[in-house]
Amino acid sequence: MAVDRNSDSGEAVGDRRGRVWSPGTGGLLYGGDYNPEQWPEPVWAEDLELMREAGVSMVTAGIFSWAKAEPSPGRYEFGWFDRVMDGLAGAGVRVCLATMTASPPPWLSHAHPETLPVDAEGVRKSPGSRQHYCPSSPVYREHAARLVERLATRYADHPALAMWHIGNEYGCHTRQCFCEVSAAEFRRWLRERYGTVEELNTAWSTAFWSQAYGSFAQVLPPRAAPTFPNPAHQLDYLRFSDEALLGCYLTEKAVLDRVTPHVPVTTNVMPNHKPVNAFAWAAHQDVLSLDYYQDPHEPLPEVRAGYTFDLMRSAGGGRPWLLLEQAPGAVNWRPRNGPKAPGLMRLWSWQAVAQGADAVLFFQWRQSLGGAEKYHSAMVPHGGRDTRIFREVTELGRELASVPEIAGSRSAAEAALLLDWDSWRALELAARPSTLNQTELSLGHYRPLFEAGVACDVLPPDADLTGHRLLVAPNLYLLSERDAEHLTGYVTGGGHLLVSFFSGIVDPHDRVHPGGHPGVLRRLLGLRTEEFWPLAEDERVTLEGRVNGRADLWSEAVEPEGAEVLAVFGKDHPALAGRPAVTRHRVGAGTVWYLATRPEPRAMRALMDTVRAAAGVEPVLPGLPDGVQATRRERADGSGGFLFLLNHSGAAAEVALPEPMTDLLTPAPGGPLREVRLEPSGVAVLSRPGTARARDGAPDGGRRGA
Ligand code: GAL
Repeated sequence: MAVDRNSDSGEAVGDRRGRVWSPGTGGLLYGGDYNPEQWPEPVWAEDLELMREAGVSMVTAGIFSWAKAEPSPGRYEFGWFDRVMDGLAGAGVRVCLATMTASPPPWLSHAHPETLPVDAEGVRKSPGSRQHYCPSSPVYREHAARLVERLATRYADHPALAMWHIGNEYGCHTRQCFCEVSAAEFRRWLRERYGTVEELNTAWSTAFWSQAYGSFAQVLPPRAAPTFPNPAHQLDYLRFSDEALLGCYLTEKAVLDRVTPHVPVTTNVMPNHKPVNAFAWAAHQDVLSLDYYQDPHEPLPEVRAGYTFDLMRSAGGGRPWLLLEQAPGAVNWRPRNGPKAPGLMRLWSWQAVAQGADAVLFFQWRQSLGGAEKYHSAMVPHGGRDTRIFREVTELGRELASVPEIAGSRSAAEAALLLDWDSWRALELAARPSTLNQTELSLGHYRPLFEAGVACDVLPPDADLTGHRLLVAPNLYLLSERDAEHLTGYVTGGGHLLVSFFSGIVDPHDRVHPGGHPGVLRRLLGLRTEEFWPLAEDERVTLEGRVNGRADLWSEAVEPEGAEVLAVFGKDHPALAGRPAVTRHRVGAGTVWYLATRPEPRAMRALMDTVRAAAGVEPVLPGLPDGVQATRRERADGSGGFLFLLNHSGAAAEVALPEPMTDLLTPAPGGPLREVRLEPSGVAVLSRPGTARARDGAPDGGRRGA
């Protein structure tokens, strides 16, 4: 029952230390967070029955069970949890077993108040919610490790155990701690990094505002200060805090590596979560997991989701990932919590699969009656089985189980967006020329690719870029000389790169690259920016030339130094009228474009289409109707693949297929289709007949007419 860890069939996910998680053998996983401690035991039996009905194949259990599993220090009570695990095993449900350390029990902070986190203002946070621990606290880590050791030893060979879920959403509530323990750890971290205080002073530009340190002992965390703290100090504290969280994760992982080396590990990262560098954490997981909560009130939620899912898949090197949490309906933590209208939960679940997920799980299985999340939707709502949500949950479970062959398949992209966590952090510090939001800027560049139906990766700038014909660098503010050389090598070698404003400006310590803007990219871009010219909040300016339309947010005084001008600012920008807004520079065998402002979506799409055409990057399907997403996943054994069509528009759409295909979700009575009609929120999962299901003995797996 446990995931086949050593199978060589299907596509292996994560093979460090001999651990292999092979989704190809088990189909797509389906389920949710299971919190049985909230319920009397008789409810558990009904849970198992309903799980069977809903097609649940994996739950993540124990996430908030510490207080029940260790009610007082060193007194462990696992008997109740044995019954949970045994019940699940008996029902054929796999368990992604949480290490139970996400919410320490009250006795820990009672005995050790120093484990509680302190904010930048010096306020020590109280227990009584969750994640109330200082990431650097050795006491918290020791207690966590002790619990994990017990848990791992007890369930190492349990038939339900599929994988470990370490912690929960690291840095969700406690991103940074500013306590004395953290301060001491930070000083140790700085000593290791800089060696001498002189080096530190140079890196942090402490000659400014009389900040020079005489010794490491004088350095504090960047606590609340009269005005702007030193940005290099802040940047290092963000890095340090990320590593402190990772340290908690690795402390637990070390125990699991020792006690259950055969069981894969994961941790659920939050979407677009600046405190935790998803690229860096990926190296320490056997399979990557994401929690994603669309806001049904947001326009174009599929674009933000698309970007996040692509980032997740790319962080895992293209391997399948797990959607470990989403909501079946509304959440309860936004000011206004929109429910998912009929069909949206299905559509957005399929979007995750279409973009590489091999699991669709929810928070949570059964809706709580008490506590802070009782108004958050669940797979089994307060109203029980006879509810729209449970019916949709059951229908989705049936549908996902009907296409096990998707698991393990992968997709490739020729385009990639660049994202650097350090640059993101630095970009959003205070005292910049304008307030800039990395994720919104990245989405502005991602949207035209998504809407054109182009497959896209999201990569750090130091990634292996071979195989990508087109790179897009949205506002890559912080860029080391080495990474700039890497990008230059990419372009001279024949790559196509679009760079947008405020890129290549500072080094990893937030020090401006000398010699004029845009610093380390100046030669590559063939231009110089003499002055930044951010626009007022409601200011719009016109672009004229090969890119037409309006732009906002930013402009700058660009002087070409070899680059060709493709568009200029119009007369409504008197200061910069006629100055370059979009340029192109051919370098070696490649081309690099520069965008000195933020065009409105229509103009951005036109620019991106031009750049994409020059790079020779084709959409997954040409001529897609508006609002229809198309993605592909290919089977690892070369026996074909899948074309996913998702209708995010509010209207029905017809999509012409490149060749006759079978819709695996709704096989057509007349055989393979040449065209698919998608209702609003409709989904089709198509395969070429005779390939994807060939192994089952019948071209369509014997489903037709079933
Ligand atoms: C996540 C968390 C879950 C639950 C969920 C509600 O951030 O991991 O435990 O709180 O949000 O949306």
